[in-house]
Amino acid sequence: MNKSKVTVVGAGNVGATAAQRIVEKQLADVVLIDIVEGLPQGKALDMMQSAATEGFDTHIKGTNDYADTAGSDVVVITAGIARKPGMSRDDLLNTNANIVGSVTEQIVKYSPDCIIVVVSNPLDVMTQLAYHKSGFDSKRVVGMAGVLDSSRYACFIAEALNCSIKDVRAMVLGGHGDTMVPVPQYTTVNGISINELLPADKIEEINDRTRHGGAEIVKHLKTGSAYYAPSASSVAMVEAILLDSGRILPCCALLSGEYGVNDLYCGVPVVLGRKGVQKIIELPLNSTELQELQNSVSAVKELGNKLLQV
Ligand SMILES: NC(=O)c1ccc[n+]([C@@H]2O[C@H](COP(=O)([O-])OP(=O)(O)OC[C@H]3O[C@@H](n4cnc5c(N)ncnc54)[C@H](O)[C@@H]3O)[C@@H](O)[C@H]2O)c1
Repeated sequence: MNKSKVTVVGAGNVGATAAQRIVEKQLADVVLIDIVEGLPQGKALDMMQSAATEGFDTHIKGTNDYADTAGSDVVVITAGIARKPGMSRDDLLNTNANIVGSVTEQIVKYSPDCIIVVVSNPLDVMTQLAYHKSGFDSKRVVGMAGVLDSSRYACFIAEALNCSIKDVRAMVLGGHGDTMVPVPQYTTVNGISINELLPADKIEEINDRTRHGGAEIVKHLKTGSAYYAPSASSVAMVEAILLDSGRILPCCALLSGEYGVNDLYCGVPVVLGRKGVQKIIELPLNSTELQELQNSVSAVKELGNKLLQV
């Protein structure tokens, strides 16, 4: 069988859990790489020893050597530091920029035809950085945030309505930060907008909880940030790419005029498939949503400008 190959860079909480989900779903063979010696090797061996019990035929190899990543179809970048209580994602900017920059150079050297999925924060700026460093067409560099933010939104909606989460389709646009834009008119329960199902004040309360969904978990954990939902969201994107499923998912993609934004990576609905971002979908937004999206775009731009001054 001609199996796909996925490299996950960073064998920490998000990376190792994403790797585990990929091999358990038998989506691809996985190479797990980290800068810390022994960490990816130990975690990969541990996962391989679960294969007999879990019943998967896919293989995972842990390494510190980029030569092992050669010829990957998809590379997921989770390398970097995660935030701790009191930190915003933006506080990670300079440290993670150095890491994501050097990681991207290595990936491109060994997997010139891959699709890159960026997860490291601050997400929108890191995705733009990986795009520049890679020299790839923008379709082949995409960031994970909207799938996670929408998944958090869906969780809170299902809880409020006491309905099956399987019927909830949520949509969150914009940058992956406090300015993200939950969009109730495109958030539905089996096709019915939540505007028809919940009072406006409850929706606003849920929107606000969604915007701070990551911080709520950091506050509980104290030593790091969320990783079960982030890894699941990253793998949903990997799956859409490998299976060429053409799923419509909110992802961080390069805007070239869509939503009135140029040359900036930001969260929008895209069609995701084997070639990466196959299409950006421009949704009609009302004036409030448009204003919120513009605020979010400005926040992403401002952070990006700080990086240029580094
Ligand atoms: N986009 C999102 O929605 C989202 C969600 C959750 C976490 N994140 C981000 O993902 C990143 C990882 O989070 P985590 O919880 O897994 O952190 P973690 O600290 O558990 O893991 C990070 C790993 O990266 C490794 N690393 C550091 N420098 C490296 C390098 N140069 N090359 C290879 N590996 C390197 C570390 O050794 C560590 O194992 C963080 O930046 C976090 O903010 C993003």
